Amino acid sequence: MKHLLSTASLAHADASAILDTAEEMSAVSTREVKKLPTLRGRTVVTLFHEDSTRTRVSFEAAAKRLSADVMNFSAKGSSVSKGESLKDTVQTLEALGADAVVMRHAAAGAAHQLAAADWTDCAVVNAGDGTHEHPTQALLDALTLRRDWHAAHHGEGSSPRGTDLTGMRVLIVGDILHSRVARSNIWLLTTLGATVSLVAPGTLLPVGAGSWPVTVHYSFDEALAAGCDAVIMLRVQAERMGGAFFPNAAEYARRWGLTEERLAVVNQLRLGDTDAPAVILHPGPMNRGVEISAAAADSAQSRITEQVTNGVSVRMAVLHLLLTGSRGHHDDRSSP
Ligand code: NCD
Repeated sequence: MKHLLSTASLAHADASAILDTAEEMSAVSTREVKKLPTLRGRTVVTLFHEDSTRTRVSFEAAAKRLSADVMNFSAKGSSVSKGESLKDTVQTLEALGADAVVMRHAAAGAAHQLAAADWTDCAVVNAGDGTHEHPTQALLDALTLRRDWHAAHHGEGSSPRGTDLTGMRVLIVGDILHSRVARSNIWLLTTLGATVSLVAPGTLLPVGAGSWPVTVHYSFDEALAAGCDAVIMLRVQAERMGGAFFPNAAEYARRWGLTEERLAVVNQLRLGDTDAPAVILHPGPMNRGVEISAAAADSAQSRITEQVTNGVSVRMAVLHLLLTGSRGHHDDRSSP
């Protein structure tokens, strides 16, 4: 694995290796000194052409915990505004010593273009390309889901390493049309053995969804009545909406939001045939009161802050695997 561009092209073995390595990395993050020397002397550049809070900071934290040097590049305030091309920007960053480029871009396929056109020798990590893919978000969601799924079936004490999501039913709710998180999750969760259902207003469901390996619902209440083990709520991406996709925020919340009433329904759902309750995820940033009520976001079943924490572990694993090429056999120096 030289790059991480999508989950559609991520083999099961590579996905498992990332999740298992992330479990090792999370042990490092609970130590008093949260550092490994494994990427000492390497440089990771975050190249963000779109706004971000948690993804950029999470990659930076991950790189620093592995002792890499980090350079943060934001398109705003850079030579991009003077017309510099992506190719020239990346080649400049490589000449400045970058070994890995973590890129977020408004254009679908931007990270693929960097990798496929051989513009750089750097490892390329897609941190979100338009509405296309966001592979590390799906991987951190999978890590979060796998922990709960495994703990429900085998107890808290045993490690989820080497396990899958076989049989888990995941419901993804909301603005599927604009969501790279939904797309990456559909491919990855399916690869890991989960079954995925979608629920969205017809206007926020892409035309091509008919060919995806999913079941589509148009009523949130009917989808919950059909049962699921996890609900992933998506942000309404107003910044990507040119026209009116639904009447107003209150109407959206009433029909598509995880309201207090629907939280009461989710609280009755169980993880598979166990006694453990179903879980709630959201990639952030949240529009509280629109797609998710404060009661749901802050409930015992919410895994939203765990997702953020797990994001650092997943990104440590991705950078480690891409830049050292080692899978499962670390030398003493780099071993978590
Ligand atoms: C997501 C994104 O940017 O794709 N956020 C994130 O990375 N945590 C989802 C969103 O913006 O709604």
